[in-house]
This record gives sequence, C-alpha cells and structure tokens, in this order.
Amino acid sequence: MIKSSPASLVITAVIAALGLGAGIIIGYLLRAPPEEGQSGGIHGNLKPPGLTYGEGNGSLADVLKQCRRSSSDDPAIRNYLLEAEVEACHAANCQVDLPRVYVVYKLDTGHIDIDGKLDERAWEDVAWSEPFTDIKGGDTNPPRFETKIKLRWDDQNLFVGAYIQEFAVWANKTLHDTTIYQDNSFQVLLDTSQSNHKYKEISINALGTIADLMLTRPYMDDGEPLNFWESELARAVYIDGPINDPTRRNKFWTVEMAIPFKQLYAGLGRGNDIPVDRETWRANFVRSEWQTEIVGSKYLKRLDTDADWWVWQSPGVSNIHLPDKWGLIQFRDVPINSTTFQPDKKWVTTNALLDVYRAEKAYKAVTGRYTIKKELLRLPPYVLSQRCIRDLDIQLDWGGFRVTARPAEEFLEDGHTRTDRFVWFGDKKEDFF
Ligand SMILES: *[C@@H]1O[C@H](CO)[C@@H](O)[C@H](O)[C@H]1NC(C)=O
Ligand SMILES: *[C@@H]1O[C@H](CO)[C@@H](O)[C@H](O)[C@H]1NC(C)=O
Ligand SMILES: *[C@@H]1O[C@H](CO)[C@@H](O)[C@H](O)[C@H]1NC(C)=O
Repeated sequence: MIKSSPASLVITAVIAALGLGAGIIIGYLLRAPPEEGQSGGIHGNLKPPGLTYGEGNGSLADVLKQCRRSSSDDPAIRNYLLEAEVEACHAANCQVDLPRVYVVYKLDTGHIDIDGKLDERAWEDVAWSEPFTDIKGGDTNPPRFETKIKLRWDDQNLFVGAYIQEFAVWANKTLHDTTIYQDNSFQVLLDTSQSNHKYKEISINALGTIADLMLTRPYMDDGEPLNFWESELARAVYIDGPINDPTRRNKFWTVEMAIPFKQLYAGLGRGNDIPVDRETWRANFVRSEWQTEIVGSKYLKRLDTDADWWVWQSPGVSNIHLPDKWGLIQFRDVPINSTTFQPDKKWVTTNALLDVYRAEKAYKAVTGRYTIKKELLRLPPYVLSQRCIRDLDIQLDWGGFRVTARPAEEFLEDGHTRTDRFVWFGDKKEDFF
C-alpha cells in the first residue's frame, strides 16, 4: 500500500478545490439566459421599460451621441443627464445621500449649568452645526439672521445649545403648552426610533415658556398631537440685553436645554433609557421668525407677513412635520472630534422604503388607489436594480399598503413600511398606536 505523504494530500485537496471552482464558473457561464420580461439578474431592471437598444439609427449609442451634441450648450439638458448619471451611480454603489449630520459627543468630565449661557468648557469643546437655512432649501430666501446649535449628552440628558441672532428680542406667551411658534421661537424635533412615529417636539420662546408634545405620527398621516406628554426638561434662556424693549437693540439670545432620555423614549417600549454608542436619531431644529414694527414703546407683530421658518435640515417643502426629511444626529462615547458620522447599515433600506412610500402616495394622488406593481411607481434605480435591495414586496390590504424590503446583504434585517409612514425592521411587533 502506498502511504500518501501530507504534501500529496494537500496537493490532492488543492486540485479538488480548483476542479470545483472551475465547475462553478463553467456552470455560471452556461446558465440559462434570463427570460424576457423577467427581472434579468442584478442589472435587469436598470434598463428603462419600453426602450430597445438596437443597432444603427435609434440605437442607444446613437441616441447618446446626438444628445451630447445638442445638449452641450443647454444647461437644463446637461442637468438632466447629470442627474440620470448620479442616479445610476447611486444604484451601482448602493449609495444614498445623507442629510445634514451631527455627532453628539458624550460629556466625560465637565458639567453644563443650565443658565442659558453657552459659556462652559463642555460647549466650547464641540463644533457648531451648520447655520440654518430657509425651510424650503435652495438659495432663494436666505435667512436674515444666523441660527446654529450644539449638542452633548450624558447618562441622563440630551443637552441642546442654540445661538439665535436677533436685533429685536420679544416674546409674549407665558402659558405652558400654548402656540409658542406664534412668538419668535426655537424648536427641537426628535424621532428617537427613526420610525416616523411617536416623535417629540419642544418649542421655546425668549421668555423660556415651552410647549412640548408627542406626535403619534406626522399630521399628513393623520397624526395626533399629544399635549399631555411632558419633556420634563431643564431649560434657560439668555438674552444679551432687554426683552420687549424697542429702545435698545439686541444682538442675540441663546437657549440651553437638558432633556431627559427617559421622556424622549416614552411610548417606545425600549429597555434601556440612555443611547448606546453610535445610536442615531432623526432630528431637526427650527426657528420661527415673525416681522415686527415698533408702535409707541412696543414691538407689534406685523399681520401682513407670514413667519419665516429657518431650519437645520431643510425638508424641501414648508412642513416641519416630515421626520423622514430631517437630519441625523449620532451619539458617540469617544473623545471629542475623534470621529465622523458613521452611516447606519440600514440607511439604504430605510430610504428604499421611504421612496416606495412616497411613490405609492404620488400614485394614489393621480389614480385614486395604491398598486402592487413596482413598474407603475416612479422608483429610483437603486431601489429596483436588485444590487442594494434584493427583493421588494408590496402588498395591499383594507388599510392600504405594506412594503417589505430585503437588503442585498443577507445578514441585515428586512425593513418594512406601510400606509402611515411607520418604518420598522425585523419581526418587531407592529405598532398600531
Ligand atoms: C441614419 O440616418 C441617416 C439620415 O437619417 C442616414 O443618412 C444614415 O445612413 C442612417 N444610418 C444608418 C446606420 O442607418
Ligand atoms: C473640535 O472641533 C471644533 C470645530 O472645529 C473646534 O471648535 C473645537 O475646539 C474642537 N475641540 C477640541 C477639544 O479640540
Ligand atoms: C405682545 O403682547 C402685547 C400685549 O397684548 C402687545 O401689545 C404686543 O404688541 C405683543 N407683541 C407682539 C410682538 O406681538
């Protein structure tokens, strides 16, 4: 009997492995071509339906050549081309743009004294947010005054510091939970679960009067404001001068808040009451600014103008109650300035779900009903290409629609959304609040 040496065993194993690999590759090459009409592999749906790319005149290459020639001097057409290319690249890389982001660093040592002044070391150590923009975005209506924020956290509280440039500081509302936004005001909006449901809103004016409420879901989804929710926050306002006194100009007011996590997590049934490292929330920060005139010795709100709404992350439309269009804040327990925002692995799936949600709503606005047919919805290529989202399932029932998106990485949880904009992952019990 021939005794096989360890070396020959290894060689045999390598040959066997190579043989298996070659078999797989040959099998792959010989596989049946995808059938017409069926989604043809990972690139299948990238081809817009109804277009055939033949040879000669009317061929894809030909269309592109003609198009490039006639578009070179037309900025609008060039823009369309660019947008299409960006969409295709997003699909190729499974990349979805981030909104504004802010990394919230934990307070290790140090203390924040809630006196309205942002003069502690704990504030000096961290960066300001970008300045606020007009709620509709773009450059058409830039804010007349600067607004910016800073955030910190500890084992109990989220700390919010806001700088609000203002020449005429005034406020009138003194009653809790009233319409504070009708004064010049600052607002904090937080969706701790990124589900679009049970998000919290806190408004404050320069007198320090607050209104705090929980929204069951966005108003557009028939949400209800629950005024009985109390943030139990500590807060203070600092004004660099007098309030309600037109004889003297101000420069700014600042707001300092400590908001207990326990209250911010209310209604979400989660076990722990403080964020874990890297936990990410949807958030927005808003300022309402009314124009005034001076009558006698008083500021008077001008009734012939609407308020300006200046925000950290523009939702693109005049509606601050769209949590799916807010920015992202990420809690980190690492040294200050040692990191940047780390996108969540669920980010692409979340956006695919929201794109389907919006496409269904747009489809219904035109046809009066929802559809299970993806090809009838206006969906961007990254949702349909099957590179990023392996499978998209839409079902209809008496209540509307329900969408499941299975991420390309099989180890990631399935995501879901439905008619009322609720987004959830895995088998987590659905929320019928
Ligand atoms: C394309 O069309 C042009 C004019 O319409 C013609 O001159 C040319 O021969 C056509 N080319 C092909 C490949 O059919
Ligand atoms: C962190 O970065 C901000 C913005 O650049 C800077 O103002 C701040 O001083 C930095 N903090 C530390 C501790 O270096
Ligand atoms: C605040 O209320 C007082 C008293 O009602 C009123 O005179 C004043 O005009 C109000 N200020 C503004 C800016 O509306």
